[in-house]
Amino acid sequence: MVQLRDMNERDIEDYVRWFTTETEWMKTDAPWEFEGSEEECATENAAEAERAAWTEYYESVRQLPEDATRWKFEIESDGVHVGWVSCYDDLEYVDNPEQIPAVGIDIPVVAAHNKGVATEALRLYLAYLKERGFRTAYTQTWSGNHAMLRVAEKLGFAEAYRKKNHRIVRGEVFDAVTLRLEL
Ligand SMILES: CC(C)(COP(=O)(O)OP(=O)(O)OC[C@H]1O[C@@H](n2cnc3c(N)ncnc32)[C@H](O)[C@@H]1OP(=O)(O)O)[C@@H](O)C(=O)NCCC(=O)NCCS
Repeated sequence: MVQLRDMNERDIEDYVRWFTTETEWMKTDAPWEFEGSEEECATENAAEAERAAWTEYYESVRQLPEDATRWKFEIESDGVHVGWVSCYDDLEYVDNPEQIPAVGIDIPVVAAHNKGVATEALRLYLAYLKERGFRTAYTQTWSGNHAMLRVAEKLGFAEAYRKKNHRIVRGEVFDAVTLRLEL
């Protein structure tokens, strides 16, 4: 069963691993942001910096009022913390005057992939955003992220913008893709 929840203190060490040693997920989530930083990520200093940053973030989540809209939730699959959903409204290459949220997802636990977890987690998050009054959502990826494109397709997203040849990943050129869903 897939559930969304606020961050708890035990999640901090998961984030430390996901941002230092268990970084496979970075190869498809905006890899242009991380390329070349693998060795830097894995140092002891980097782990300490991540621990401090995630502890601070956890404190900010803990102080959120009960009724505040959540821009990020942790994902649990069968009781195991496997990743997160989040949203943002700066779409970079797409104007977004209405500040329509774009949802994103990362599941660093590779063993949890291809079991429908992302599709179900995003389905839950989109239902949450709808309850909060949002009528439309975007999601953004790149043309080489076939798993994410498939998840978006399963949820009913349709392509809204394509910026040709906008992303370079491991020396290959890909399109940036923005998809839209009426909730
Ligand atoms: C993208 C991601 C969230 C998908 O999570 P998931 O839980 O495996 O997704 P689901 O199981 O719900 O669906 C995955 C679908 O993609 C398909 N798929 C997986 N890899 C694929 C590939 N290389 N080519 C084509 N389809 C692929 C699966 O078969 C499945 O489709 P199906 O249900 O029709 O069989 C996960 O792979 C991940 O966290 N990746 C790293 C971070 C990332 O890329 N995040 C998205 C940034 S835009």
